[in-house]
Amino acid sequence: MQSVKIGVLGLGTVGSGTVNVLRRNIKEITRRAGREIEITRAADRTMDKERGCDTTGIDLTTDAFEIVNDPNIHVVVELIGGTGIARDLVLKAIENGKHVVTANKALIALHGNELFKKAQENGVTVAFEAGVAGGIPIIKAMREGLSANRIEWLAGIINGTGNFILTEMRDKGRDFPEVLAEAQALGYAEADPTFDVEGIDAAHKLTIMASIAFGIPLQFDKAYTEGISQVSQEDVQYAAELGYIIKHLGISKKTEQGVELRVHPTLIPHRRLIANVDGVMNAVLVKGDAVGPTLYYGAGAGSDATASAVVADIVDVVRVLTTDPENRVPHLAFQADALVDTPILPITEVVTSYYLRIHTDDEPGVLADITRILAEQGISIEAILQKEPEDHNGIVPVIMLTQAVAEKNMDMAITHIEALKTVKDSVMRIRMESLG
Ligand code: HSE
Repeated sequence: MQSVKIGVLGLGTVGSGTVNVLRRNIKEITRRAGREIEITRAADRTMDKERGCDTTGIDLTTDAFEIVNDPNIHVVVELIGGTGIARDLVLKAIENGKHVVTANKALIALHGNELFKKAQENGVTVAFEAGVAGGIPIIKAMREGLSANRIEWLAGIINGTGNFILTEMRDKGRDFPEVLAEAQALGYAEADPTFDVEGIDAAHKLTIMASIAFGIPLQFDKAYTEGISQVSQEDVQYAAELGYIIKHLGISKKTEQGVELRVHPTLIPHRRLIANVDGVMNAVLVKGDAVGPTLYYGAGAGSDATASAVVADIVDVVRVLTTDPENRVPHLAFQADALVDTPILPITEVVTSYYLRIHTDDEPGVLADITRILAEQGISIEAILQKEPEDHNGIVPVIMLTQAVAEKNMDMAITHIEALKTVKDSVMRIRMESLG
């Protein structure tokens, strides 16, 4: 039988890893796929650079369109990233009847609806396991392994760079910029690292997982996104005193009103397994009605780890080359004509508990004013921690944990609290999840 010929677009961190993993494990991979697989062509931005892989026997070019237009290429592996040229290349590959494997979460989150429609019309597959949580086979698990379940919610640490920064800050007291620079040097960070720090990368991945979990179209524009740059050492310490760890979570829940889709720093009880996922590791917790909570853990970024998912997708594609397109696993787990338009809830309608940190003057009646405002918004207090005044300015940090309340009520309460003359600075609010 003729070998399956692969064209790789992009030989950066993930592209090099893909060449390396495929070469290293080719015997096992062939036994699994049932066909020989070879990377015959690859495109890179420039020809004169050091690469992290051996490209002997691979026909290299700087023109990626040559590969998507090459009739001898069966599968195009897009590892360029972004939503510009990558989108044009993937669309062209689909039009040319080629299957596509991609690690490009932004492309899927923003243009997946269009790409999947085009792929269906052309009888090809677009596989994207490597786009979500690096090497963890979370797409496969949710799309196939959990297909008996009604998924109730999912929550994940899905950005390795952000988790690495939070872990180093907490455990070693290191500064934010220094840790970010290290994550960039290790090849974990996005080309634009604000995507990692501000939660955009996590929102891309969450958007994809939510569609697969709930059978809804991809709607990245409706995701609520908040980064980790405002999380201070002070909050990390107070959270720890109260038995919590702050993690940057992507959370999606199905409620009677709609689907929540949100990325933000979150206090979670330190005893939860997911609270102990540190460094560049990722983890996704998925709650199905039949199976209960399930946890998926592994490397969320890095060359070989992400290549593991890329190559697994290549094997999957090779296995289905001869399958009738109608009988393939649907891109978003649910049949394309069975997607539903359940609304995505605005963040103001989301109901959660909160951690509040308020800097106040050391005066009688301050706490009474704050608790009155909270009561007016129907907010119950679960715990209060008042610290000694800070030496230099007499400011008292007051930390409160509240019971669950709609975000719009909390917004209103915070506006009133910040208007008190005795309250200094903005109120720091961090949402909490029990993940029980
Ligand atoms: N920048 C991403 C991360 C890479 O740090 O998780 C993997 O998607």
